[in-house]
Amino acid sequence: MCGIIGIVSQGYVSSKEIIKALKRLEYRGYDSVGYALNDGTIEKDTGQIAVFLEKMEDKKFKTGIAHTRWATHGGVSKENAHPHPDCSGNLIIVHNGIIKNYLDIKDTLLKKGHVFKSETDSEIIAHYFEEKLKNKDMKQAIVDFMKETKGTFAVLMIKKGENEIYAFKRDSPLALGIGSKEFYLSSDIYGFSDKTSKAIFFDDDEFAIIGEEYKFYDKEGNPIEKEVKEFEWGFFEEEKEAYEHYMIKEIKEEGKTVRRIINSLNNEQHKKILELNEMITNAKKVCFIASGTSYFASLLGVYFLNRVNVESQAIIASEFKHFIKIDENTLIVAISQSGETMDVLKALKFAKKKKAKIASIVNVPYSSVQRISDLSLEILAGQEICVAATKTFINQISLLLYLANLNGLNVNLDTLHERIQETIENNEKKVEALAQTLYKKRDIYVLGRGFTYPIAREIALKLKEIPYIHAEGMMGGELKHGTLALIEEGTPVISLIAYSDDEMISNTKEVEARGARVVTISNDEKIDPDFYLRTSKDEKFAITATIIGQLLAYYIAREKELPIDKPRNLAKSVTVE
Ligand code: AGP
Repeated sequence: MCGIIGIVSQGYVSSKEIIKALKRLEYRGYDSVGYALNDGTIEKDTGQIAVFLEKMEDKKFKTGIAHTRWATHGGVSKENAHPHPDCSGNLIIVHNGIIKNYLDIKDTLLKKGHVFKSETDSEIIAHYFEEKLKNKDMKQAIVDFMKETKGTFAVLMIKKGENEIYAFKRDSPLALGIGSKEFYLSSDIYGFSDKTSKAIFFDDDEFAIIGEEYKFYDKEGNPIEKEVKEFEWGFFEEEKEAYEHYMIKEIKEEGKTVRRIINSLNNEQHKKILELNEMITNAKKVCFIASGTSYFASLLGVYFLNRVNVESQAIIASEFKHFIKIDENTLIVAISQSGETMDVLKALKFAKKKKAKIASIVNVPYSSVQRISDLSLEILAGQEICVAATKTFINQISLLLYLANLNGLNVNLDTLHERIQETIENNEKKVEALAQTLYKKRDIYVLGRGFTYPIAREIALKLKEIPYIHAEGMMGGELKHGTLALIEEGTPVISLIAYSDDEMISNTKEVEARGARVVTISNDEKIDPDFYLRTSKDEKFAITATIIGQLLAYYIAREKELPIDKPRNLAKSVTVE
């Protein structure tokens, strides 16, 4: 994961500017922060970017690099924080990715007398170049690096006294933003989208030298022409406004963002969704791939399409290649909020090699997943800052419902935003009160059946990642096959009961009989649920029930005074395998 930023400017810039740009990438990791300038300055520390920004000295610079870390190799410490210099302090690097053969390279460098200060894989990069540059020029050294290293990388490197950044990448994302007097390098367009709307996206095994102008090269060092893309990213909603946390702000935006996606599918994205539908119709096999929350959206997609006799399957991206046979008649539909999830990208590259067609549903335009796809739709949820996916999940499901409607499902999506608003307004206080009774619990079970099964999984995931409660989302029918043994007096069980779902009512009775403390969420008024969510359509209940779960995760975490928007050990964009 990690976020990297580089700035090459014709005039002097304040060092605080590079950290402010880095802050926009904080969702990629928040274990430590640091920057380096071409006068040899390196400042770094563990902890939050905001705190670092407050304490840092204001220096003027023309060329600098910065890094926000999500630790992989080596613990969270100042030594392991980036940037990393070589022995002489002449070359300084920041890196996003993992150099898999770093131990072999380190061994060789140690024998040549290099001294390392961190436990990271990244530090070897600076030393590797220090060694190479003894008898090669920079271009050739980068070509060698690409040949000799295994793993993933987006690297920015500066040399003391030079106004240039050397940038190279494989698998980890990297973009060059083109301003009027500055160039920006960033893990994604968030890093510079307040400064410019022009960007060049690095492809794998390409490198660039950016100074007064920029030059791109292929992996052999041959110059290449790259297309400058004009991007539009018009939904900046990153200010927390009056809200205490981004998570609650983003949940409360759900009505608005659903309206936006439905509107777009009726208008500017209409042709695209018809194209996607045609690709589905023409394919012999349709498979959704995704991770985490996006996977649960995929499962719902399979359910919705199955309702209208369109066959598809969903596979977790990291397990994809073990569970499917694919060829040119297969359509892969990737669902990813960030569009940068490494597991998804690896699965797509695998599918591409097998000549499968690729469609995607993403939130971030120009993301790697979008760029690898034959067709890509955007869910238009706006930037989601909290690590937990909330509004993006709701928009993913809304798009999938629209797709099912095209095949004969009959769900009125024009009133969906009203149901969402009503759910939040009528239930927020009640959820808050429930959270006060649940926050000390270690385990919570969430039961669903059919379309409420993916929702049960999603609610459980929210309960794990935000309030750190061990939660299991499971099929009601599976309880009796083992998990029922864990239910004892007072065990909290959330039961999602769709209209007339008698089987789910039976499963709920089974846990109640064993002393569970059951909380029922239903669109069936006659069963007198704890949370009654008015809607005659089960598909809309899928959405409103999720929102109750999102609010519950939020309010339990708030009661526990946890870092809601940045839960421990996680990052928004998961760019490692
Ligand atoms: C969601 O709350 C999680 N943070 C996580 O499961 C996420 O959905 C997953 O990493 C997939 O991300 P993507 O949608 O950006 O691919």
